Amino acid sequence: KRPVGVPDAKLARKVTKVGIVGAGLMASQLALLFLRRLQVPVVLTDLDQARVDKGVAYVNEQIDKLVGKRRMDAGTAAKLRGLISGSVDRSVFADADFVIEAVFENLELKKQIWAEFEKIVKPEAILATNTSSLSLTEMAADLEHPERVVGFHFFNPVAVLPLLEIIKGEKTDDATVATAFAVGKELKKSSVLVKDAPAFVVNRVLTRFTSEVFKAIDAGTPLDVVNEAFDPMGLPMRPIALLQLVGPAVAYHVGETLHTAFPDRFVDSPNLKKIVDAGLPLLVDDEINAEVVKLLDAGDA
Ligand code: 3HC
Repeated sequence: KRPVGVPDAKLARKVTKVGIVGAGLMASQLALLFLRRLQVPVVLTDLDQARVDKGVAYVNEQIDKLVGKRRMDAGTAAKLRGLISGSVDRSVFADADFVIEAVFENLELKKQIWAEFEKIVKPEAILATNTSSLSLTEMAADLEHPERVVGFHFFNPVAVLPLLEIIKGEKTDDATVATAFAVGKELKKSSVLVKDAPAFVVNRVLTRFTSEVFKAIDAGTPLDVVNEAFDPMGLPMRPIALLQLVGPAVAYHVGETLHTAFPDRFVDSPNLKKIVDAGLPLLVDDEINAEVVKLLDAGDA
């Protein structure tokens, strides 16, 4: 049975080449997932060749690991290695029919990216965004073809978590949503159609949780006490480990978007900001980072 609001799968367009904008941790995980499941050419790009090379190297390393674990045969591995490539020359995206961006969580940057890629790709190519919180409608506002912009939001670790939030902007058309669902199915994810609202559904709820965690830390409870307090609840991860997995900066920016939209519900934590500004990881070898504790002990944020 087709879920409410999901257009007829017959409207879906075929995807024969995927472009990934960004080569960071999330983007590289996406490159690997698209490559494994769709087995079509996947090209990634970033600001410079070193980042691109790092992204491609990650994908090749993961292929090696999968072969090592006997989860992929040598023939498939060789085929996939031939399908992944990276380039700083964006013209290689010209024949991509599904482009997904996973860059820094900043609306202006994402708008700039789509303005640039709109000129490179075909008018019907899908422009998907892995944004965690930003408005699809605003992101597409200045485009000539806003109807092909769609939210395609994954959860960390991408290879493990099945959820995919598909977000329809005000102008997103049915063919785009149908294609997004068809691709989600090929990726073997459980796709849900959600409204274009700040942080959509799952991140809004999760951020309410992590936001309250930092409210307790801001109020003076030590980081490790708050972290371990949840152990009896049987969560898959302690809250600070979850924030580290998501990335403290990503979590902070999602929190900022939600704080702006709902200031009474989401705190803009001064301590989380301090940690993000210092560029410190929250955990080192699975333990609370001593540098973070020192930073928070150093005085009022
Ligand atoms: N990358 C790839 N695979 C990973 C991985 C990673 N980072 N971490 C774990 N795995 C794999 C392991 O290899 C293992 O696979 P196998 O069983 O086939 O060997 C499997 O996951 C289970 O791993 P473990 O046994 O080591 O550990 P756990 O059973 O504790 O599971 C977990 C690890 C899946 C990460 C689990 O702790 C979990 O689900 N945590 C919650 C994660 C979560 O809530 N994520 C959402 C964050 S919000 C988000 O991402 C949105 C963004 O927009 C901010």
